[in-house]
Formats: sequence, structure tokens, C-alpha cells
Amino acid sequence: MSKATQDKNKSVETLNLTPREIVAELDRYIIGQGKAKRAVAIALRNRWRRLMVPEEFRDEIAPKNIIMIGPTGVGKTEIARRLAKLTRSPFIKVEASKYTEVGYVGRDVESMIRELMDQAVTMVQSEEKERLTIKAAEMAEDRVMDLLLPSVKSGELFDDSDEDSPKRTMAQTRQKLRKMLREGKLDNRTVDMQVEQPVSPPITRIFTNMGLDEMEKNLSEAMSQMFPRKSHRRRVKVKEALTILTQEEANRLVDMDKVVAEARLRVEQYGLVFIDEIDKVAGPSNKSGPDISREGVQRDLLPLVEGSTVPTKHGPVKTDHILFIAAGAFHIAKPSDLIPELQGRFPIRVELTSLSKEDFVRILTEPRNALTIQYQKLLATENIQLELTPEAVEELAAMAYRVNEKQENIGARRLATIMETLLDNISFDAPDIAPAQFKVTAEYVRERLADMVENTDLTRYIL
Ligand SMILES: Nc1ncnc2c1ncn2[C@@H]1O[C@H](COP(=O)(O)OP(=O)(O)OP(=O)(O)O)[C@@H](O)[C@H]1O
Ligand SMILES: [Mg+2]
Repeated sequence: MSKATQDKNKSVETLNLTPREIVAELDRYIIGQGKAKRAVAIALRNRWRRLMVPEEFRDEIAPKNIIMIGPTGVGKTEIARRLAKLTRSPFIKVEASKYTEVGYVGRDVESMIRELMDQAVTMVQSEEKERLTIKAAEMAEDRVMDLLLPSVKSGELFDDSDEDSPKRTMAQTRQKLRKMLREGKLDNRTVDMQVEQPVSPPITRIFTNMGLDEMEKNLSEAMSQMFPRKSHRRRVKVKEALTILTQEEANRLVDMDKVVAEARLRVEQYGLVFIDEIDKVAGPSNKSGPDISREGVQRDLLPLVEGSTVPTKHGPVKTDHILFIAAGAFHIAKPSDLIPELQGRFPIRVELTSLSKEDFVRILTEPRNALTIQYQKLLATENIQLELTPEAVEELAAMAYRVNEKQENIGARRLATIMETLLDNISFDAPDIAPAQFKVTAEYVRERLADMVENTDLTRYIL
């Protein structure tokens, strides 16, 4: 089974993962925060349940949006990131602070729905392409054979006239050729072909980076479609020709109307928007400065969350059943500083707790992408076997915890700076001392870090 088909099956599976299974998946990466994981898992399951409800009642069920509240660096964004990988449904994560009220210069909140739709279209399109690969590959084979043997056109392939007719022989030659092609025997032959140059995406990227809004981005996209695509003749190896032509044929075969319809269905039925840093738009607006449109952003968000229709370049998209999950540290503004209407639209509140020293120990070692594992893998490429004793890990966790207490509490992010400082020497020296085994003991941790942890100035700048 190809990778994309597997993924597609996965998407159906993911949609009906049980809450327990979703939590188990999240557990592989995120330590603790059970309440938040539960809430998210239930919300996801509810979307599947809604689709199982008889149709005439389905529209009556509104998603139960969630707000996650908790200090910095305890896993809010990380949960969202993992969800994104887990739910193969349309998902975007945005930062509330990036948006401005309609009428001010900047990005309006509706653009998140447009982005979600774009993303879904890309996703469905690539699934479609993958589904059509076999057909596209066959067509590409035909075209490559035309290039190799211009005189034997594919139309003449099936001919039942008598054995010796020249057409018959050609058909046979073609079959032989196809066999050789499939066996890779012709991979190193070259053919002359017309190669389309991709429309230069960098231009679009520059536009986005300059912070120009959607309209101008679309404009530049439209312009690039107006001008004829550049293509030029090139001599390429058969293998490369097959790849290029398969892509071309797949693009041609994909029915974009169908793709857009499916994408819209997915967005409307089980799209998910994660709004991070929602606390940055909470709180009373000051009369001047960058705060001016905070409350405006909240007001603009209301209709989206409440259910409205957003025009996108792929047609109108209804937001009634899109699930919104918001998150914020709320250490200055409080959830109650959000305008009441918006609060009401996020009925489920979950608090994430600050992490303990024991959590730090687990975070350092347990997740699949735990920091210690990352460093081990990186150094292994230099032939350095890195080992951390359990006591060393304890000591690291304790130090991270202490620095968080003494300085600002930045949660698990502290572990990253501590690890980097701890392994600074070995990271630098690795190529010179390899191959080697390197054992980090509690002693080594203290030696490298204790001074820094005690010295407030150093801590502030380094850890
Ligand atoms: N509970 C946790 N389990 C495992 N890793 C964690 C956990 N919490 C935080 N981390 C690690 O710390 C990093 C920062 O966490 P995250 O981005 O989720 O913070 P946050 O809660 O969104 O904070 P902020 O309010 O500052 O955005 C993550 O990339 C992750 O590696
Ligand atoms: Mg965050």
C-alpha cells in the first residue's frame, strides 16, 4: 500500500479514534496535563459522533469550543501541535496577536478560515494525485515511449491484423520497450523533452514576508497564472522524465471541482482552528498604541466562532461546525477580560498546571522526541555515544526547576537552555574526539552548571 493511501485510511481512523486512544497518542509526547488532553479528546470524538447523528438533527449540534489556560511552557501549544499531526482533518494554528480589527492595516481574522480552506484544498489535491498515480504513471510511460520511439505512437498499439504487419511488429516493440522501461533498464537513456518551469514560488513568499495581505498575495498568484508558464527543451534521463511526466499527468487528471467540494466538506464538517495567545487580545483596549484594536479583534472573532459564511477564493465556507480551541497563559489578562460574548462561545475551560521537578525528569526522557534522545541521536552521527545517568537527569531537572523559581518561570522551555549549556563542550568537540563514549553523571552536571545556577547574573543571561 502506498504511503498516501495509508494516510488516507488513517484519516478515517483518526476521525473515530476513541477519546482514550487520542489521549494515549498525546501521552507519547506530552507529560501530564491530563485534563486538557481529556477535553480535547472528547471534543474531537464529538465531531465524529455528530456525523453519526441522523442528518435532520446534525445541524443542531454546535461544537463545544475549548479554552486552555495555563502558565508559559507547560504544553498548550505542544498539545495543538500534536493534535495537528493526529487529526488528519483540516487544521490550522494561528496566533491571535497577529490579527487586527477590520479596517486597520493588517490581517483580518477571516483570513484564518481562508487559510484553513487553502490548506484543505492542498491536502485533498495531493490525496487525489496520489490516488491517480498509477494511472498517471502509465500515461507518463506512454509519453516517454513516444519520446524514445517517435514512430510508434500509442494509438497504434492494439492492432489485430496479421502477424507480420509492420504495425503489429511495432506494437510488439512497444510492449518490449514498456517492459524494459518498467524494469529500469532504460533509466540511463536520455530523451529530449519540453519541461515546464514551476511558477516561481519565492515571489509569493517574499510578498507574504513583507506582510502584504491576502488580496495582494492572491493578486500575485493570479498574475503568475496569467503569464504563460515558461517551458524549455531539456535533455533528461528517462528516469527523471518519468517522474516529471507522472507529475504533469497527475496534475492534469485531478478534477479540481471535486477537490474543492471535498475540501469544503471537510473544513465545514470537521475543520479545527487553534487560536494561540488568545490572552494577547484580551483586556481593555488602551486608547492609543498597538492595543487599539484588541477588542475589535475579539468582536471580529465572534461571528466566526458563532457560525457565519466566509468568502474564500474557493467559494463560501460556513464556519458553524468548525471546532475552535483557544489557548493563552493569561498571566496579565484574565479569561474574564475577554468580552462576555466570546467567553460564552468557549464553554469548556481547562487549566494546565505548572510542571513539577518530577515532570521535568519525565519530559527529559520519556517523549519520543525527548531532549536527551535528540542529543543522543545528533551526537551519534559523529560517533559519540552519549549516556546520561538517571542521577544526572534528576540533577538537570532539579536545576531547571530552581532556575525557574529564581528567575522567570518559563516552564519546560528551561530544559532546552539547560541542556544546551550542559552539552556545549561536547557538542563543539565531538568531531575531534570521536569515536567515543560520553557519560554525563550528576557530578558532571553540577560541575558544568552549579555555578551558573547560583549566580543570578549568569543565570539571567545564559540559562
Ligand atoms: N507537558 C509537557 N510535556 C512534554 N513537553 C513539554 C510539556 N510542556 C512543555 N513542553 C516542552 O516545552 C516546549 C514549550 O511548550 P509549549 O510551546 O507547549 O508552551 P505553551 O504552554 O504554549 O507556553 P506559552 O504560553 O508561552 O505559549 C515544548 O516545545 C515542549 O518541548
Ligand atoms: Mg504557546
